[in-house]
Amino acid sequence: MSDSIAKPQAAILALSALSLAGSMLFLLRNPPPTPFADRLSKLDPKETSIDNDFYDDYFESSAEESNGDGDDGGVVDASAEKEEEHPLQLVNYGRIPYFLRTWTAQSPLCAQVKADVETMGGATTRTVLPASFKALDVGCGGGIAAEVVARAGAQVTGVDLSAGAIACAKRRAKARGLSIEYVVGDALDLPVPSETYDGVLCSDTLEHLFDLDAALKEMARVLKPGGILVLDTINRTRVSWYALVLIAQDTLGYLPHGAHDWRLFITPDELSTSLQRAGLEACPESAVRGMRPGMRAPHIILARTWHYATSKQGSASFLDCFIGRWTETTFTAGSYLAWARKPL
Ligand SMILES: C[S@@+](CC[C@H](N)C(=O)[O-])C[C@H]1O[C@@H](n2cnc3c(N)ncnc32)[C@H](O)[C@@H]1O
Repeated sequence: MSDSIAKPQAAILALSALSLAGSMLFLLRNPPPTPFADRLSKLDPKETSIDNDFYDDYFESSAEESNGDGDDGGVVDASAEKEEEHPLQLVNYGRIPYFLRTWTAQSPLCAQVKADVETMGGATTRTVLPASFKALDVGCGGGIAAEVVARAGAQVTGVDLSAGAIACAKRRAKARGLSIEYVVGDALDLPVPSETYDGVLCSDTLEHLFDLDAALKEMARVLKPGGILVLDTINRTRVSWYALVLIAQDTLGYLPHGAHDWRLFITPDELSTSLQRAGLEACPESAVRGMRPGMRAPHIILARTWHYATSKQGSASFLDCFIGRWTETTFTAGSYLAWARKPL
């Protein structure tokens, strides 16, 4: 091998080794923090680093960016990936099929409708909820998940602590011609009557709460007997610390700084204990599924990288060029999906 070829190869090798060593050092110097002694006890918000106030404006951009199509996980309206998507719209692709599938398979009301469809000899591949299905979205934010549930046929109410998020959710629903009731309220003291809902949905919210037992008891209270809670949250593991908090949030700014305090993440065992304390029957372990982000299509990666490199605004994260639709997986060390039933 001639010297002129060997030198660039050696330089590339040396650079790769240096970056690998640098990355390893960075990870070693930033280990996960010490977890709370008991995640399920009532925690003092002052002892956490989470900033739930930023949700007042967080959903605002999506109201302008999205046109109401294609943000539904491909369940109700299949359409092309949009250039502009709120990160939570991309998560819809992973979570919404699980939620609708679980409700249709587990809810007594849906079983009745399915039976009717079968009796009539009808066949449908679309997931549709019966018109009498009442769903409550706890911590609904800007309504990105609630809207899809409404399009799937349910009567939806959304509750969120953030008045700004609720105002945004109302504007979005109006712009899309959706009839969804949105209310400002606390998950720990839901402003809705008991035994009212066939399904409760709590997506990407449990890991923001300081009293998980109290919140799940409230969700149990508002479910009808036989009603189904569907949820997704984040597991407290090394994977979620390094990938989600240290790299995606704190280093690359894909998620707003202060959006997550890793110590508030919830292991599946803790979730199961808390569900039990709330009087709910947790789903079998085999029904707990993971969720992970997928990659955007190559031409969108190229277009977004070009825009990122040339844009003077520079507000979006570099990761946003790559992260596309989320999908279900068996890997539960990051985000995971689960459900629980209120006994009859
Ligand atoms: C990551 S966002 C998820 C929004 C929405 N569920 C979604 O996935 O599109 C978390 C939401 O939880 C809300 N939240 C935090 N603490 C809450 C509480 N105690 N009661 C109700 N909502 C709360 C925040 O305001 C925020 O809108």
